[in-house]
Amino acid sequence: MHSFHYQRGKLTCESYPLDKAAERYGTPLYVYSSQTIVDHYKRLDQALHELHHEICYAVKANSNLAVIRLLAEQGAGFDIVSGGELYRTIKAGGNPAKCTFAGVGKSREEIEYALRCEVLSFNVESEQELSAINEIAKSLNKRAPIAIRVNPDVSANTHKYISTGKTENKFGIAIDRVPEVYQRARTFTNIKIRGVQMHIGSQITESRPFVQAIEKMLPLVHKLKSDSGIEFFSIGGGIGIVYRGSLESGDEVWWKQDEPKHALTIQEYASATVPLLKGLQIRVLLEPGRFLVGNAGVLLSRVLYVKRTPAKTFVIVDAGMNDLIRPALYQGYHEIVPVRESKDRPLTKVDVVGPVCESGDFFALDRELTEVEPGEVLALMSAGAYGFTMASNYNSRPLPAELLISGTEAKIVRRRQSYADLISMELTDG
Ligand code: LLP
Repeated sequence: MHSFHYQRGKLTCESYPLDKAAERYGTPLYVYSSQTIVDHYKRLDQALHELHHEICYAVKANSNLAVIRLLAEQGAGFDIVSGGELYRTIKAGGNPAKCTFAGVGKSREEIEYALRCEVLSFNVESEQELSAINEIAKSLNKRAPIAIRVNPDVSANTHKYISTGKTENKFGIAIDRVPEVYQRARTFTNIKIRGVQMHIGSQITESRPFVQAIEKMLPLVHKLKSDSGIEFFSIGGGIGIVYRGSLESGDEVWWKQDEPKHALTIQEYASATVPLLKGLQIRVLLEPGRFLVGNAGVLLSRVLYVKRTPAKTFVIVDAGMNDLIRPALYQGYHEIVPVRESKDRPLTKVDVVGPVCESGDFFALDRELTEVEPGEVLALMSAGAYGFTMASNYNSRPLPAELLISGTEAKIVRRRQSYADLISMELTDG
């Protein structure tokens, strides 16, 4: 359940009005609700209470230090994919001994750094990587804890760019080869086998793919428990969230006609997966990103102009694809609502576009939106995951600020970049 609601005609985050946030801190502005993040974490934790489990938050979804810290305080572990994410996580108070290090292309420097920090496990994605980790661990006189990432060849039924569990994807090792790879791993002097892992994709909105993948993995996990002594089975992340109608529904159900009238609630996810996992008698790791933070954030943007042409009406806002790339990259849908409640205003069909010099710079195409005026603030909903973390300086646009709300309190957790910041790393001859 998220904490964005209209109160007295204004969209608020918890008890903080978002027009005030835009006024005080400027736009574009990311705003996060700490209450929502904690609530989502607790609900997931509770839904899994029958399992010996560990929630390893996927830092890539939102890596702001304050967000990492909030989850560390709840007892979360972390799923990281780079040296930079490990560095952030430690700086924010995360425990490296609760970090799993994933990714198909870990560099030597990253492997050394993670070994020195004593991470929980390297999720190994190829046989060459396994040998490299063994070599590097030997040179540091250490034993590297590992889990093999298994590619179970299951369709996640999601956007092709975020589908990872089919053999044509670059991720993991094909399930038939995995027993042999563990056999090899057992012969390596500087490898300690710790677990097995899978992740089939992201924004999965039904339980079937998770069930299929787990069922496919069960015999393997049983076998690895007895012959390789694995301590954990990580089932990855991927739990989908509601994007359409997320404001009205409080993020619990789908409601638009063109979407299934059905959401993957956390109870459904748990009741489909927990019974399968319970019998394994093994520690289960999860790597949720989007589920924890997606509906805990919005991107506030101010309308600059409304441009009417014979073909279209364009609502031009001050945020661009560089600030939130999901619509451009995955045709991702984000609900767009005015911060000032709009009950009596007529609907018009518009494109909501940004200032970036690309036709792909849009947030909505042919969307029925309440009529808006220049100067007013819009909220792009469900922007807490893969929003700021995928932002860039394209068109030399400074990165937006990030604000964390807790009740009536607002705290800037990342200041807006300045023009000076934009060039501060660059060197000229003169
Ligand atoms: N574990 C692994 C190994 C992953 O690759 C990912 C996400 C996760 C966990 C977390 O998945 P989640 O629970 O957030 O679905 N930028 C895209 C999503 C990319 C997901 C990449 N991997 C988007 O905006 O939709």
